[in-house]
Amino acid sequence: MKGERLKKLKVRISSFSLKDMLNFKNLPLRRDKAIEAAEDKEIVADFPINNNARALHPDYQKMVVQGIIDRDSLGTKTLVLKKADGSAAAWFRPGQYVSLKMKIGSSYVSRPYSVSSSPKMTRDGKIHVTVRPKEGGFVSKHLLEDVKVGDSLLVSGPDGQFYHDPLRDSSNVVAIAGGSGITPFISMAFAIRDGIEDFNLTIISGSRTGDSILFRKELEVLQEETDRVKVVHVLSEEKKDGFEHGFITADLIKKYAPEDYSLFICGPQGLYTHMDTEVAKLGLPARRVRREILGAEIRAEDGAFETYTLKVIQGPQVFEIPARSDESLLVAIERGGIMAPSKCRSGECGWCRSKLLSGKVFIPCSHDSRRQKDRESDHIHVCVTFPQSDIVLEIPRGDYPVD
Ligand code: FES
Repeated sequence: MKGERLKKLKVRISSFSLKDMLNFKNLPLRRDKAIEAAEDKEIVADFPINNNARALHPDYQKMVVQGIIDRDSLGTKTLVLKKADGSAAAWFRPGQYVSLKMKIGSSYVSRPYSVSSSPKMTRDGKIHVTVRPKEGGFVSKHLLEDVKVGDSLLVSGPDGQFYHDPLRDSSNVVAIAGGSGITPFISMAFAIRDGIEDFNLTIISGSRTGDSILFRKELEVLQEETDRVKVVHVLSEEKKDGFEHGFITADLIKKYAPEDYSLFICGPQGLYTHMDTEVAKLGLPARRVRREILGAEIRAEDGAFETYTLKVIQGPQVFEIPARSDESLLVAIERGGIMAPSKCRSGECGWCRSKLLSGKVFIPCSHDSRRQKDRESDHIHVCVTFPQSDIVLEIPRGDYPVD
């Protein structure tokens, strides 16, 4: 049996072990001779494994806006994106994000958005991303007001660690969502309904009023379609029958959580600050608490900021642009019309890793996920680094053809 298998694999074992040893010893010699004798030309080959890897982890996907769905009274919209060439979109884990890349005016920008649809739709080449208006939001304004059906967008491959992993997480997930922080959880809920994910999901969703609940209808339908998804709405500015009132607290979580659970949190910065205190009261081990933070926002309380000079070296090109102390270096680079690679904008993916040649910077500890080696060699993630003096920086080349 074993011999047959070896024969299939074309492995020959000599009965004389000395001969085997000589064969092995002469292997490099034979290899060098074969290389010498080979034709001097590039090997062009189409390997299925490489094609699969590219389909699963594309740098970017060319997609077309196939539809736009109005979501709520706040002006939130879902962009229905479809692969331009009709092929399947990259498969993702529910909870992961994609980065939309575009040129607005003279700025090359990217923004990460959690996918808000089921992975099942990728087979038809589709994904949904849901955009909520944001005060002063440069990209959200463009996506909500300028982008129309038929427009093209570049979409990165899926990324991020905010998904259920049966090896790490409990089979019960309690999801805390603040406002548009519901998007990764609606994707998880769809995936549970579609039989793609195998865990129980209790969503505790915080909104201001009943009218501003995002995906309210969809969540109602999902609860009817599967008993593995439960939803609790918490309204902070309205009292209504059938809804909890106030803020999401440790007591409220205990009221609805099963005995053993993982806690997933997604929402605006204020939610994390509030939940830090509440989560401490739950006594959960650290591995059972997961947070999704896309984008580091730093603003001086009084709106004050300094403006420094940022010298950017990118290959043979050198740019000199202004950089505000309350905005990340990545924002300054984008404002300056320089195309720079980025994906998560929260210091996690390493896509924007650059070399700080001189100057003083501030990196919030909560977003500093650099390796020790990078800290020692002054490599920084420009998406979460803020200038505190004039800066000289070497950045990698831009990674997407948006023009
Ligand atoms: S964009 Fe991901 S680390 Fe900066």
